[in-house]
Amino acid sequence: MDIKNYHDFAVKVAKKAGKILLDYYQTNIKINYKGGDKRNLVTEVDMMSEKYIVDEIKKKFPDHCFLAEESGDCGIKPSDYKWVIDPIDGTTNYAHGYNFYAVSIALMHKNEVLTGVIYAPMLKELFHAGKGMGAFLNNKPLRVSKAENLETSLLATGFNQNEHGRNIPIFQYILPKAQGIRRAGSAALDMAYTAAGRLDGYWEYAIYPWDIAAGVLLVEEAGGKITDLEGKPLKLDQPDIMTVLASNGKIHGEMVKDIAAGKG
Ligand code: IPD
Ligand code: CA
Ligand code: CA
Repeated sequence: MDIKNYHDFAVKVAKKAGKILLDYYQTNIKINYKGGDKRNLVTEVDMMSEKYIVDEIKKKFPDHCFLAEESGDCGIKPSDYKWVIDPIDGTTNYAHGYNFYAVSIALMHKNEVLTGVIYAPMLKELFHAGKGMGAFLNNKPLRVSKAENLETSLLATGFNQNEHGRNIPIFQYILPKAQGIRRAGSAALDMAYTAAGRLDGYWEYAIYPWDIAAGVLLVEEAGGKITDLEGKPLKLDQPDIMTVLASNGKIHGEMVKDIAAGKG
């Protein structure tokens, strides 16, 4: 299994997809609303970025499967290798000219992530990891933070369009316990920032594999911990909605406890 080869391919493709995002950024692009819901945007640039990434994968790894946010999966193709793609994570930010958005690409083998790349083109930051290779930001090694408790922690979360009500009591419970909580609008970057030690922890109540697959490996390779909100192992290898908790490891237990208490 040539992880370095997969990693380098994902880096190359993420950079080119990021260039597509930049080329159309703050231009007059067409925006559609999934299911007519004005809070659930998809732009023509999401579609362009995704088509580019999927076409490159099909050319380079024709036997591999994929799961992409806008076009679904590769059908019945029986492969244990699956590319998991979010062509723009943070589409609402992208559409509003708010620079916190990224391309996210991961390769999974069964439930294990082999490579994960998150590229934020406006921030000029490429977060990349390979299983056993470490996690990097623009080729410099990353390490999670050393915060020991919530009191000294900066956290992040997000609110899924349809499920935000379930996260609000948790948010309310944790807010006075932490140093601060950010809601910047890109799960992929929230995880990359956790890997980089800029955030000490991140959680989300309702999230999909394409939002977090690359981030999972980045956090793990940077020495952090990933579970679901109950502290149980994450089952990424399924197309359904799930919960996620990422941290530097040291505050993980406290977060699991407080999330349970906040949920009530
Ligand atoms: C969303 C972002 C956001 C998170 C939502 C996701 P999208 O992804 O990651 O931070 O809170 O749950 O759906 O729609 O911008 O790709
Ligand atoms: Ca997303
Ligand atoms: Ca997206």
